[in-house]
Amino acid sequence: MSKYNRKINFGAGPAMLPLPVLEKVEEDFLNYKDSGLSVVEMSHRSENFMNILLDTKAKLKKIMNIPDSYEILFLQGGATAQFSMIPVNLVRKDEKIGYVLTGVFAQKSFEAASKLCKAVNIADSSDKNYDYIPEIKNIPNDLKYIHITGNNTAIGTAYYNAPKVGVPVIADWSSAILGQEIKVEDYALIYAGAQKNMGIAGLTVVILRKDIILKDEDIESFVPNLMKYEKQIKSDSMINTPPTFAIYCLDVLCDWIISMGGVASLEKINREKSKMIYDIVDEYDIYENGISQNDRSIMNITFNLKKDSLTEKFLSSSSEAGLVGLKGYKLRGGIRASLYNGVSIEDTAALAEFMKKFAQNN
Ligand SMILES: Cc1ncc(COP(=O)(O)O)c(C=O)c1O
Repeated sequence: MSKYNRKINFGAGPAMLPLPVLEKVEEDFLNYKDSGLSVVEMSHRSENFMNILLDTKAKLKKIMNIPDSYEILFLQGGATAQFSMIPVNLVRKDEKIGYVLTGVFAQKSFEAASKLCKAVNIADSSDKNYDYIPEIKNIPNDLKYIHITGNNTAIGTAYYNAPKVGVPVIADWSSAILGQEIKVEDYALIYAGAQKNMGIAGLTVVILRKDIILKDEDIESFVPNLMKYEKQIKSDSMINTPPTFAIYCLDVLCDWIISMGGVASLEKINREKSKMIYDIVDEYDIYENGISQNDRSIMNITFNLKKDSLTEKFLSSSSEAGLVGLKGYKLRGGIRASLYNGVSIEDTAALAEFMKKFAQNN
């Protein structure tokens, strides 16, 4: 068991955070920078909180190399709210967005958009249980955007380059943002729920190019201001009370990322971690992973026990060993090890060792 008797959490989110981040949050919790207040007690309009918000944006901009032509929004409603905010703000209801259907969340974003605009399925890997990232072969010539899910949390597949199809790309990067390098300028809009690799639940980060937003008169009149990007930009994400504590946690996390040498260094570590687990899956016959080699995620490693009856045993014995959160996505079954930034190489080695012994004994 590690410091503070903490378990190693391989859950897909809310997920494990780096220990120095939790320790810094604990240190600040009762009295933030001698203000006499906790961040959770502070007015979101106070100077102290405004500084946190501006500081977090500036750090994120630096860490992700976000060009000046992009805005960063700190919203609520999770990535799920973006499934609807995107079509509402970027296309009229008779305009088309092409969706690449790569799994559960891609499907959900497609269904949400289908109610608000013309959502078109342009590539789909459901024929093989979503085990690969499909190539976009033919697209209608009147698409305004395409939407991809950068990392498929439930499935264990990922993109490593944005598709180049001559149409601006929108991406749900919820489960790999800050864990692998993302070239922001390849996208018109990127969004992510924070509770995996950006801190804690309650915050959704949207990074978008300012010029893509529809004019206010082209947005349906029933849409509330809270759901309009333009209004959120104008009020610094503060039309109402923003998720203050989650923004502060992201601020602390950004400092940790900078101290670790930035996202490129973390991606290197994450590649190493994922290789440790994939190597065991490939080496030992009791495990299988059907994901196409080049599309394997470095964040969510999914695999099955060939003998299904061993799945429960794997889960209970790993849990006894302090390795938790390994159960696969509910509709998918099997095992999933999420190796976000908060899971260290040593943590991953503990899982690899467990898997090796489990394979030898079963
Ligand atoms: C890729 C992806 N998109 C969207 C979601 C939904 O996110 P939220 O719960 O923040 O709405 C998830 C949650 O796991 C996810 O992994």
